Amino acid sequence: MAQQPFVKIGHFKDAGAFIGHLHRLGLDLPCDQRVLGAAEHSPLAQPLEIDGFTIGNRWCVQPMEGWDGTTDGQPTEHTLRRWGHFGQSGAKLIWGGEAFAVQGDGRANPNQLGIVDGDYQRAGRGAAALLAALQNAHRQRFGGTDDLLIGLQLTHSGRFCRPHEKFRLEPKIAYHHPLLDPKFGIAPDDDSVVISDDYLRALIDSYVRAAKLARDVGFGFVDVKHCHGYLGHELLSARTRGGRYGGSLENRTRFAREIIAGIGAECPGLKIGVRLSAFDHPPFKSDARQDGGGPLGRGICEDFAGHLPYRWGFGCDENDPLKIDLSEPIAFIQMLGGLSVRLINLSCCSPYYNPHFQRPAAFAPSDGYQPPEDPLIGVARQIDVVRQIKQACPESILVGSGYSYLQEYLPHVAQAVLRRGWTDCVGIGRMILAYWDLPADALAGRPVQSKFLCRTFSDCTTAPRNGLISGCYPLDEHYKDAPAHDELKKKKSELRQALKIIQPK
Ligand SMILES: Cc1cc2nc3c(=O)[nH]c(=O)nc-3n(C[C@H](O)[C@H](O)[C@H](O)COP(=O)(O)O)c2cc1C
Repeated sequence: MAQQPFVKIGHFKDAGAFIGHLHRLGLDLPCDQRVLGAAEHSPLAQPLEIDGFTIGNRWCVQPMEGWDGTTDGQPTEHTLRRWGHFGQSGAKLIWGGEAFAVQGDGRANPNQLGIVDGDYQRAGRGAAALLAALQNAHRQRFGGTDDLLIGLQLTHSGRFCRPHEKFRLEPKIAYHHPLLDPKFGIAPDDDSVVISDDYLRALIDSYVRAAKLARDVGFGFVDVKHCHGYLGHELLSARTRGGRYGGSLENRTRFAREIIAGIGAECPGLKIGVRLSAFDHPPFKSDARQDGGGPLGRGICEDFAGHLPYRWGFGCDENDPLKIDLSEPIAFIQMLGGLSVRLINLSCCSPYYNPHFQRPAAFAPSDGYQPPEDPLIGVARQIDVVRQIKQACPESILVGSGYSYLQEYLPHVAQAVLRRGWTDCVGIGRMILAYWDLPADALAGRPVQSKFLCRTFSDCTTAPRNGLISGCYPLDEHYKDAPAHDELKKKKSELRQALKIIQPK
């Protein structure tokens, strides 16, 4: 995909030049001149205490699914290889590995890991194999796993369920959404896709059973996922829903609270985390009138003028939904703190309807749009939101997201953000797919290996959007030489051709 007119990160000759650029952009994004190794007391090397467990350092691997499991929810060699890399990375907090469906109909794709057909034994074997792959890789490289905390991310994909066919949505929604329904082919009067309170009650039991499975297998915590437009996240904005799980903030957070209470009763001592989209935004679309120098149009916000107050976002101002409003997310995180849930991983928005917020990138995924802003603005926005939440919720242990676009300067920014106390841990997603040694290199005081740096081509998203396994096609030999790579190139070239035809010059 073609590039927008913002300066590539690789263009800067050193951290000083990059810092100058941040100033020119007017971004309050701290960045150190030099990365310290663990021996020099790097903030990234400091241990972190959580309820009697010491996490060895401040690097966190974010959950990333590969669309590469079997149709009965089991890992394949690709999945095990990825989890091995997570272990090899040197990060001491592994947030969930990847989304793991608590029941078959809640899968985001037919190859998502999880509990399919209620077969807990099979799912347990799969989860155990993943955990072992990660722990073995970590042990082999670092000698032990005593300070390695590994979670499993529990999910139901809600509006974005595709349990049977890769391209057929089988949505299970919390409420009708005036912009997302038409965007994803839901008729406004089709109530068959709106899940009942009884469905939610049974689903809560599935979460608790999945947490038991995770505990029995040996995971250190479970993440009750509330991000990215999936069901848990959607319920947080279910203001227009009736019944026990909609309306007031108390009701909208009931799903989370009941799952947490259930896990607490059935799995005493198991740590619980929540990955949360800390703010939301109305959906974006590609503006077909502009080509921005590339095949996809520039991103523009969908027209929400007829839908004010905007009651369908969690963490955006109802009267001006372009603005972030953290009052409810903060109240939710404080509520979680009251339930002894202190581990919070902050992300934002959704990869399905406004990906540039969630994964700032230079190159758009095939179902996206050209970045409407310099992706550094997106990085700084996420970091600043975590800063604000840390200020309001000092007892919570926060993981920040969206750092991969920083590329060469990821460790410089991570170190500076930690030193200021703006976050407790730095989470990295896409960068790990390309360069799984980055945390270990930074901790050892080695310079980054630029040949492995993720340049945010978005192939790891474009591939699954086109029915292929995810992975770093440009940089990881495993995918570079895979048959799926030829398929991906073909799809991208077809897309370019199609867009050339429909877009005016
Ligand atoms: C291929 C891919 C798969 C992902 N899968 C998940 C997932 O299973 N669960 C989740 O919470 N986030 C998922 N994410 C989001 C990442 O965890 C992360 O928030 C995002 O990539 C932004 O961080 P980064 O800039 O470090 O990549 C995924 C991202 C990518 C690129």
